[in-house]
Amino acid sequence: LHRDLPREGPGDDGSTERALRLTGILNGDRTNARGVDVLDIGCGPGAQTIVLARETGGSVVALDVHEPFLAVVRRRAAGAALADRIRTVHASMTALPFAHASFDLIWSEGAIFVMGFEPGLRAWRPLLRERGALVVSELSWLAADPPAAARAFWEAAYPGMASRDANRATIERCGYTLVDDFVLPRSSWFTEYFDPLERRIDALTERHARDPAALVQLAAEREEIDVVRRYGDAFGYVFFVMRKAAP
Ligand SMILES: C[S@@+](CC[C@H](N)C(=O)[O-])C[C@H]1O[C@@H](n2cnc3c(N)ncnc32)[C@H](O)[C@@H]1O
Repeated sequence: LHRDLPREGPGDDGSTERALRLTGILNGDRTNARGVDVLDIGCGPGAQTIVLARETGGSVVALDVHEPFLAVVRRRAAGAALADRIRTVHASMTALPFAHASFDLIWSEGAIFVMGFEPGLRAWRPLLRERGALVVSELSWLAADPPAAARAFWEAAYPGMASRDANRATIERCGYTLVDDFVLPRSSWFTEYFDPLERRIDALTERHARDPAALVQLAAEREEIDVVRRYGDAFGYVFFVMRKAAP
C-alpha cells in the first residue's frame, strides 16, 4: 500500500524550507569550518532529506527502520547529485547509534509520534551539540473543543496526541527553547501523501474485492483520509522549531 509513495506523511518542500530558515542553519551561514551535521530521523522515502542536504550544504544521516525506504533515499540522493552528502542508517529511533553531541541539527517529520513527543525530545537532546536545533512535525489539536468524531478517531489512532499549546510547554520542560512553530498547510496532507495513497487504496480495493481481511485494512486507511477531509480544521501537523537550551 505504501510502497513508492513520494511521502509517508503530510509535508511539502516549501514547509521544510520554511522550518529550516527558522533554524538559521542554511548553506553559507556556517558557524564553523567543519560544515553542518544533520540527522533525519524516520526519514521514510526521503523527500525532506534531499531538501536538508541541498539547503544546508551539510552532511545528512537519513535513518529509518524500514530498509526499502532507505533504498529509495539512496536512489533519490544519487538523482539529485547529493549521494556524497547523504548517508543512510538502518536503525531504530529508540536506540540511535551515535555519540553524544554529534549533530548541529536533528530533523524528524511525522515520526516522533512513534516514541511519543516527550520521550523523543528527551532521548534525542544529548545527540545535539551546544545550541543545536531540533525540528519536528507533530500531529496536534488546534481546536479547544474538537468534534467528538475527530476526538474518537485520534484517541484510538494516536492516544498521545496533545494540543499545540501542550506541546509548546513540553518543549520548554525538556530542555529546549522554542524558536517558532507553524501549522502545515492543508494541501500538504493531500498533494504528496493522501492523493497518491487514495489512488492506491482504490486500485487495491478493486483487486482484493473478495478478500475480507484486505478490505478491512483498506477501509481503515481510507477512514483517516475521511477524518482529515471532514474535521481537518480541528487538528493539524505543527512544525516545532527549537534550540537546545543550556543545561
Ligand atoms: C509517517 S512516516 C514519515 C516519513 C517521512 N519523514 C515523511 O515525512 O515522508 C514515519 C516513518 O518513521 C519510520 N519509523 C517507524 N518506526 C521507527 C523506528 N522505531 N525508528 C526509526 N524509524 C521508524 C517509518 O518507517 C516511516 O518511514
